[in-house]
Amino acid sequence: MSERMDPACSFNRLFFGVLLITSLFSFIEPLQAEPADDASIATNLADMLRAARQVISSNQARINDPNLGDKGLTGQVVLQQAVEIFKKATGTDPSSIDPTSRFGRLMHAQMDAIVEATDANQATINAKGVGFKGFIPAVFARLVNESFENHARNEAQIKVTAPEQLVRNRKSRPDQWESEVIRVKLLREDWPRGQAYAAEVETKGRTAYRMMMPEYYANSCLSCHGSPKGETDVTGYPKEGGKEGDLGAIISVTLFKQ
Ligand code: HEC
Repeated sequence: MSERMDPACSFNRLFFGVLLITSLFSFIEPLQAEPADDASIATNLADMLRAARQVISSNQARINDPNLGDKGLTGQVVLQQAVEIFKKATGTDPSSIDPTSRFGRLMHAQMDAIVEATDANQATINAKGVGFKGFIPAVFARLVNESFENHARNEAQIKVTAPEQLVRNRKSRPDQWESEVIRVKLLREDWPRGQAYAAEVETKGRTAYRMMMPEYYANSCLSCHGSPKGETDVTGYPKEGGKEGDLGAIISVTLFKQ
C-alpha cells in the first residue's frame, strides 16, 4: 500500500513544526538578549580567579627554581593560560562577552588585574639564586584582587577570606557580614558541600549583591595550613592545624548596585 499524506496530518506537522521552532526561539532569545545576572557574574569572576591561581600553582616548581632566571611568566602568558583553564571549566570564551556590558567590563577589569599583578612581580618571579620566593597562589590571588579593585572602579570587589581563626594576612580578614555567613551558614554541619551563599545587603553605605563561595583544604594545602599546629611553615607562618576537607577558603564577591 502506498503511503499517502493525509492533508490534516501534514497540516499538523507544519503546525507543530512552527510551534516547535517558535518555542525554541523563545527559549534561546532571552539567553542571548538578557544581561548576565549577578549570580553568574560573581561565579564567573570567581572561576577566573581560580584559573589564574591554578596557573601559579602549576608553575610553582619553576617559580621556586633557584637556577632559573627568566621564567617567561609574563602577565600576558599567565593571562593566556588562565583563559584556557577558564574556557575549559566554564565553556565560556571571555572574548565572546560584550566588553561594554557590566559582565564584560568586570571580566576585563579582572583580566587586566591578572596581567598587572604578574608584571609588577617579574623581579621576584625571575630572581636567580633564590629558591622559595613567597610567590604562591594565595599571595598572587590577593594581589590580583587588590589590582581588580582599582580597575573595577567601585563597581565590584573580590576577596579571598577564611574563617577568622585561620586568617594569616590581616587584609584578608572577613568583615562582619562575611564572618556571620561563615559562622551561621558555611560552617554549619548540614551546609551542602561547595554550595555558595548569596544575598543583597547594605555594604559601605551601598546596596550590594554579595556571594560567598566556599573552598576546602586539599592535601596540598596542609604542608602550610596543616599539622602540627603552631609549627612554622616554609613561608614563616605558624600552621593552623587544618585537616583535609575543612572549610579553608571563601571567595567573596561584592557587586555594588548602580
Ligand atoms: C606554601 C605554603 C602554602 C600553601 C601550600 C597554601 N597556602 Fe594558603 N596561604 C599561605 C600564606 C603565606 C598566606 C598569606 C598570603 C598573604 O600574604 O596574603 C596564605 C593565605 C591563604 C588564604 C587567605 C586568607 C589568609 O589566611 O590570609 C587562604 C583562604 C588560603 N591561604 C587557603 C589555602 C588553601 C585552600 C590552600 C590549598 C589549596 C593553601 N592555602 C595552600 C601559605 C600557603
